[in-house]
Amino acid sequence: MEKHKIIIDTDPGHDDALAIILLAKSGLFDIQAITTVAGNSTVQNTTNNARYILDLINSNIPLYSGSTNPLKRDLVQADVHGKSGLDGANIIKQEKLMNDAVDQIIDIVKNNPQQVTILAIGPLTNIATALTKDTSLSSSIKEIVIMGGAITVPGNKNRVAEFNIFVDPDAADIVFRSPVKKTLVPLDVCNEVFLTLDDFEQLKKSSLYEPIHDMMKHYIKGINTFEKTTGAIMYDPLAAYFLINPEAYTTIPMDVQIETNSELTRGMTVADRRTWGDKNPNIFVVKSADRKIFTDDFIKILKS
Ligand code: BDR
Ligand code: CA
Repeated sequence: MEKHKIIIDTDPGHDDALAIILLAKSGLFDIQAITTVAGNSTVQNTTNNARYILDLINSNIPLYSGSTNPLKRDLVQADVHGKSGLDGANIIKQEKLMNDAVDQIIDIVKNNPQQVTILAIGPLTNIATALTKDTSLSSSIKEIVIMGGAITVPGNKNRVAEFNIFVDPDAADIVFRSPVKKTLVPLDVCNEVFLTLDDFEQLKKSSLYEPIHDMMKHYIKGINTFEKTTGAIMYDPLAAYFLINPEAYTTIPMDVQIETNSELTRGMTVADRRTWGDKNPNIFVVKSADRKIFTDDFIKILKS
């Protein structure tokens, strides 16, 4: 049987790194491309980091660099991943940037209509640019699975916004309005799923153990400063695992719009949670994820 074609649009990022490793090692997908975007760090750094991860797993998945800045705003980089975006990893190679990710996304999708799922685990700049550049693209995309947003919980960047949506709310607005099938994996579920350094000890016999351990040490320290959790929050891997085992999740269709005007609530995912009135659902929102199934499978796949 043909493998499910996917594109991973990403800003590695410690949790992005784990998401890429998880999907690549699962062997379940035909990963057509990894496309990078500025977010956790500059696009130069996120692309260097993506190459580092691919080298780590001896993968030749095509890597394309993308947007350097959010659509209309300056880049705000993350605090938890360190300056490089992947502190703790031994990154020495500078990747040559072609910034052709948007064109590659368009080509891959157009050549495989209704077959490609895009996993978007960084700011949505590349995806929005692709949808705007080719207005017929939306009808050819199978689905976009997005890590982002905070529906009923506080934000992790400002009071109400999750980082990926905060960084480029204008891009998120375009994507959320597009008629493509979309699934959102928000902070509400991600916050509940984290792994401690002890959990990563289960990888002891794997060649990935040391590099992952070194990366997670930095990530957990960073996360702990802000979120006060003692483990690595599995934001992007939880969104990635949705592609592997959607049965482990429950979703509900919701009407979610993005705040693009206010500074105070910039990037808020404003969901219509009222019990009354007509609704125009534009996205499936993950309500729950089976933490045990995710964790067991995640470790099993990484160990393999
Ligand atoms: C998201 O922001 C980034 O720092 C992570 O990689 C993840 O995609 C969590 O809010
Ligand atoms: Ca990310």
